[in-house]
Amino acid sequence: MSITFVPTPAVPAIDASVDHAIQAIVTGASTDATCSTDLAAGPWDFDIRPGYGPGSSMGDVIPTGAPRQGELPSAYREADEEELHERIRAAKAALGDRVVILGHFYQREEVVRHADYVGDSFQLATAAKGRPDAEAIVFCGVHFMAETADLLSGPEQAVILPNLAAGCSMADMADIDQVEECWEQLSEVLGDLDAVDEEGRVPVIPVTYMNSSAAIKGFVGRHGGIVCTSSNAQTVLEWAFARGRRVLFFPDQHLGRNTAKAMGVPLEQMPMWNPRRALGGSSAEELVESRVILWHGFCSVHRRFTVGQIDQARAEHPGVRVIVHPECPMEVVDAADEAGSTDYIRRAIDNATEPTTFAIGTEINLVRRLAAQYPQHEIFCLDPVVCPCSTMYRIHPGYLAWTLEELVAGRTPNRITVSADVADPARVALERMLAAKPPVVDAPQTPVAASAR
Ligand code: 13P
Ligand code: SF4
Repeated sequence: MSITFVPTPAVPAIDASVDHAIQAIVTGASTDATCSTDLAAGPWDFDIRPGYGPGSSMGDVIPTGAPRQGELPSAYREADEEELHERIRAAKAALGDRVVILGHFYQREEVVRHADYVGDSFQLATAAKGRPDAEAIVFCGVHFMAETADLLSGPEQAVILPNLAAGCSMADMADIDQVEECWEQLSEVLGDLDAVDEEGRVPVIPVTYMNSSAAIKGFVGRHGGIVCTSSNAQTVLEWAFARGRRVLFFPDQHLGRNTAKAMGVPLEQMPMWNPRRALGGSSAEELVESRVILWHGFCSVHRRFTVGQIDQARAEHPGVRVIVHPECPMEVVDAADEAGSTDYIRRAIDNATEPTTFAIGTEINLVRRLAAQYPQHEIFCLDPVVCPCSTMYRIHPGYLAWTLEELVAGRTPNRITVSADVADPARVALERMLAAKPPVVDAPQTPVAASAR
């Protein structure tokens, strides 16, 4: 893999900070709306709640001895933005090449400004490989991304999630017990799931979206299945259909439905699997006739986008180009001009040679950053309400400052480690994906505000 650095752009005139936007709403300085005024406060509340993190799912058993998010010391909770910025900058300088900071596209601006790489989840997991010298990989994303980085990085490298409560609510919607139970019920309906038919295909191939726990990736690896991302889902489904008569797709029903529909699979052959109902809420006949069984999961951020928002954008901005993420509901994807992964959206804007108006259906931190980075275009989020991914948002700069200062003091906080029994089959599932078609990983970006460091 070659990593190309994008030249550092000038400091943007447009303020990309979602936190500033939310603070302005809460203080009345802005008339915009936010989905939760709680976002204006620090996410410390979650530190002392039991049960969440370091497991990616609420239902996961937390391994004995695994790190739990302790209460963030008050010095970090009480520091203002400028003080935290200075502390992060100083600790990072003290650590030098021993640390690499990765920032997901959806991460807050106040954290992303300190990242060495900004990218999508897969780009970042592989970017860590390009820094084998770094002892600590500080992953400013969510739990499943840090787990994937641990799977793909060297055994001596510590992958750190600055706030262990930064999970992904979609990944939480499929836990390993539910998936094992589903598999067992499917075997009752479809027979021996290892039996190969005259065309060399098994009854069902499990496919998991990258947004799932390592335990689920391990399950998939053990059962002849594969991982996909939003940028290679169609290739992965083709791989699966060559080996199986149907696919069990989890956790995101929308990515599964949108991708299979684009490949010509009829909606009637995509029954839903709701883990709280017998046979997932479908009949045995529907499961037998199915081509893709869709797990009942969704992203609470992308579920907010509607056809009405697209209609309004078209009415108010004639000629607008509407691009949405494939985690959006099918009607929204159908009404948009294009659908694609986070990196697809970034590239589409980067490749636009004429000034263009873009209405984007994805997380607000990325949309505002793109608006700041590409002032020659008008770029806005389809959702008029400021509503970031609330779990990603838990990586407040206070946690980054704490993490880096702990490293300077010789301690390694919040290390994410996937146990070998899970890691080995999970890597098999990831390697199958890479062999089917590697996602494009040519341009992890330097952060937009790098020049402000
Ligand atoms: P990427 O795989 O594009 O990073 O997206 C992750 C995600 O969480 C989308 O909601
Ligand atoms: Fe998970 Fe949705 Fe947040 Fe992505 S945007 S990390 S899918 S909750």
